[in-house]
Amino acid sequence: MFRTYDVPDQRNLLDQTRQGLIGEPLDRPEGALKVCGVAPYAAERRPDDCAEGVLVTATIAQGKVAVLHRDEVLAMPGVLGVFADKRMLRRPAQGTAGQAPVQDIREVDYYGQPIALVVAETFEQATHAAKALRVEYQPAGEVPFDPEAAEATPAKKPVVLGDLDEAMAAAAHSVDLTYTTEGHASAAMEPHASVAEWQDDRLTLWGSFQMISHNVKELADSLRIAPGHVRIRSDYVGGGFGSKLGISHDAVAAAIAARELGRPVRVVLSRQQVFDTIMRRSETRQRLRLAADARGNLTGIGHEAWVSNLPGEQFAEPVTQATEFLYRGESRKLAVNISRISRLTAGSVRAPGEAVGMQVLEAAMDELAEKAGLDPVELRKRNLPEALPGKDRPYSSRLLAEALDQGARAFGWQERAPRPRMRREGEWWLGMGVASAARVNMLMPAAARVRLEADGSLRVQSDQTDIGTGSYAILGQIAGEMLGVPIERVTVELGDSSLPSGAGSGGSFGASSTGSAVFRACEAIRDKLAHRLRVATESLDLRDGIASGSGREVPVTELLAGEPLDEIGRIKPGKSQRDYAQASYGAFFCEVAVNAYTAETRLRRMLGAFGFGRVLNAKTARSQCLGGMVWGIGSALTEELAFDPRDGQLTGHDLARYHVPCHADIPALEVILLEERDAAASPIQAKGVGELAICGAAGAIANAIYNACGVRMREFPMTPDRLL
Ligand code: MOS
Repeated sequence: MFRTYDVPDQRNLLDQTRQGLIGEPLDRPEGALKVCGVAPYAAERRPDDCAEGVLVTATIAQGKVAVLHRDEVLAMPGVLGVFADKRMLRRPAQGTAGQAPVQDIREVDYYGQPIALVVAETFEQATHAAKALRVEYQPAGEVPFDPEAAEATPAKKPVVLGDLDEAMAAAAHSVDLTYTTEGHASAAMEPHASVAEWQDDRLTLWGSFQMISHNVKELADSLRIAPGHVRIRSDYVGGGFGSKLGISHDAVAAAIAARELGRPVRVVLSRQQVFDTIMRRSETRQRLRLAADARGNLTGIGHEAWVSNLPGEQFAEPVTQATEFLYRGESRKLAVNISRISRLTAGSVRAPGEAVGMQVLEAAMDELAEKAGLDPVELRKRNLPEALPGKDRPYSSRLLAEALDQGARAFGWQERAPRPRMRREGEWWLGMGVASAARVNMLMPAAARVRLEADGSLRVQSDQTDIGTGSYAILGQIAGEMLGVPIERVTVELGDSSLPSGAGSGGSFGASSTGSAVFRACEAIRDKLAHRLRVATESLDLRDGIASGSGREVPVTELLAGEPLDEIGRIKPGKSQRDYAQASYGAFFCEVAVNAYTAETRLRRMLGAFGFGRVLNAKTARSQCLGGMVWGIGSALTEELAFDPRDGQLTGHDLARYHVPCHADIPALEVILLEERDAAASPIQAKGVGELAICGAAGAIANAIYNACGVRMREFPMTPDRLL
């Protein structure tokens, strides 16, 4: 049913069409609705007779709930029910949720884990009752809170090639360094929320999700019902950053309570509950070994990481992901080790793997460049492999050297002082830094429907979500471009699981995957139009509702003759994905000022140059790059999940204490979008951009700090207390 993508499509059809929509910096069609507060988010869908649910979270780290004093709160005004069903306790993973309900005896695995849902007529009544609910625990305490105190085991089979120890011993230049990064929160603007409504045995759930077709299965699994009986709507999503890849407790709890009560139930998490219960990026410890010959050619790379998660969780932050393909170095040892601790679930947060792996790799590369006496740009350029190390697989397209060169020119890299502490302005040391950017590229199974209406207007439908990234805009642009329809006449409907399954928003694959499904559907419609015009598909030209070819010119509405054309396009990864090592690339350049007395670091300016295949919309792509760089800056300077060492409780669980960068932290950022086509990546020759600009950005800032004040920072975030 899904067509695999096997042979790189070199036709560049989107370069030959003439509607002029592809790549144009068009506004997001839902942008004004979101900004003006008109776009309804999940929590704003309140059906008649909707009851309000508030989650109760554990105030111990480990153990069992012995007694829930539900009778006391059931007597409170407006309270409708107290639900404590085992199915809603853990963050459900597909296929693993849905154990039999057990009354009143539950496991607690971490501080802040949801243990019950209190439902009342109003939100205030539910909040009051949830606070009043007395819980008696049977504490236990076998699992440590501190990752360093827990024993680590390999998360997967390490990559071992050649003999790294030998390469290190024989190296003309080498570094052997250990770094740490703190945990991160996704920190999406819109808190998680679910509104559940049953009609007989069918559930409709309004929620905030990234991957709806996957989320339907998770929810059905958790409730032990058929996926066909679950419909999810996420028309508008206020950011995800990984935290909405899977469903969360609110969805399962709202569905269970709504069924029991026979009326709709809404559950909205507080900001603190989002921090406490959804997920974290693991903290990491990373040992980097780089071995190079006298000319700075890498002969070996060691990248060993230590991360953590709850006992039994599958996910381990894939820290070494980019190290596998980025640079040369025949001898290698790449490993991720995991320890089991009692802190909330670790999961995919904003470019899992590369975000923290690249910032450390790129900082280590800077130290190696200094030892080898090379400009750090030059060190990177001379270490780009011909083929994927150890696999001999060619790269699809890779504009890393170009990004470094163009970025260096545009930034004024030649102004960089060759040694630290050479540029001073009042009490500030000034310095510049560079880093590479890289993020793996994925094509995922996706479907989309395109309907060319009898009146010549166009409708695009998929359950693809738009989490603020531009799906509504770019899917409309692709369809309008392919079928010669002005953008004003294109309607895009997303975020409803009853529509064909898009790839979802995750791993930066949404635009290229679901965009390719739209492209395929349009190809099928083009074939039919060409047939009706009696021209070969290759000579069909569509623009502004006019079909032309072989000297003929006919309005498309005439070819349609009162009937719409409706096609579903489908794509899934194939040989093309297996035959080529695929990633998006780029380079960061930045300038910082470090206060000589307080060690405060202020970013002065930053530039990123990025190549990620075809640019579908220059405005949304640039926004993705800006957002990525902002996350990189946060990772470098301010973002840090702090846990109480006594019980694993998250202490900074709101945006006042978890510091994402604010406007005053972000100077003018410049983005260069490189011209590129990657035929191996997808039929539309686009790759992922969503997460690219996070990956490595913090390394550039660490390198600039060194260039400014001569301090090598190996602990992130590089707060003044660490830098002093
Ligand atoms: Mo992304 S962390 O795969 O949403």
